[in-house]
Amino acid sequence: MTEPLPPTDDLDEVERRLRMPLVDAMVTQRSIRRILPDPVEPAIVRRLIELGLEGPTGSNGQNWEFVVVTDPGPKAVLAKQYRRAWKIYGGLGQRLRKDDQTTRILKSVKWQVDHFEEVPVMVVACLKNGPRPPVLPVPAIADSSHYGSIYPSVQNLLLGARAIGLGASLVTLPLWSGIVARRALGLPASVDPTSVICLGWPIGKYGPKPRRPVDEVLHLERWGGS
Ligand SMILES: Cc1cc2nc3c(=O)[nH]c(=O)nc-3n(C[C@H](O)[C@H](O)[C@H](O)COP(=O)(O)O)c2cc1C
Repeated sequence: MTEPLPPTDDLDEVERRLRMPLVDAMVTQRSIRRILPDPVEPAIVRRLIELGLEGPTGSNGQNWEFVVVTDPGPKAVLAKQYRRAWKIYGGLGQRLRKDDQTTRILKSVKWQVDHFEEVPVMVVACLKNGPRPPVLPVPAIADSSHYGSIYPSVQNLLLGARAIGLGASLVTLPLWSGIVARRALGLPASVDPTSVICLGWPIGKYGPKPRRPVDEVLHLERWGGS
């Protein structure tokens, strides 16, 4: 486990922290849902989004948009949606998977659900102009290309947050109702909210996380090949 870095709004210090070795950022980046309500320097959030834009997009569409939310109004709307979704998903999760890891995750999600209005910064990652029109004979992989165009940028943002020492978590349940989220954020019909990156200075620690071993997921040349 890595001790949390002290909060900073010094942009030179932020740039120094961003020089963390890539592999260290990758292996210790994890969902940090327990965060302080203290504000985060807006220039840091801007820098993270700028790093997000280094990611690839399908057909180089660059059809991403990022709405930074700090106002209580839209936060309260998203929090209400999160609670509604959590009632269903949290309940299901508790019934279906009772292992230690899931229990730990569900506890931390519950904490986030209960404190969602206090998250100082929410970055709502959006995509424009998609997905595929249902009337056109476009293959289903077009959906993958569309929605897959936001997550490389989101991962950059998460890794950057980790290097800076910010707590970050990627969540989708607060967008349970696209209509409600769109109205709260003033999004035009052509813009879909895809996910929310919650940012704040952490209460918890970064550190390694349990993952399936590589040999379990690696197939050489074809399915099942070893
Ligand atoms: C597409 C996507 C949607 C997610 N939605 C939520 C969510 O709504 N709430 C939440 O607490 N975590 C959400 N997560 C985070 C996962 O629960 C988390 O990444 C997973 O449990 C592994 O934990 P780690 O990030 O700490 O490694 C989401 C992750 C992804 C990739």
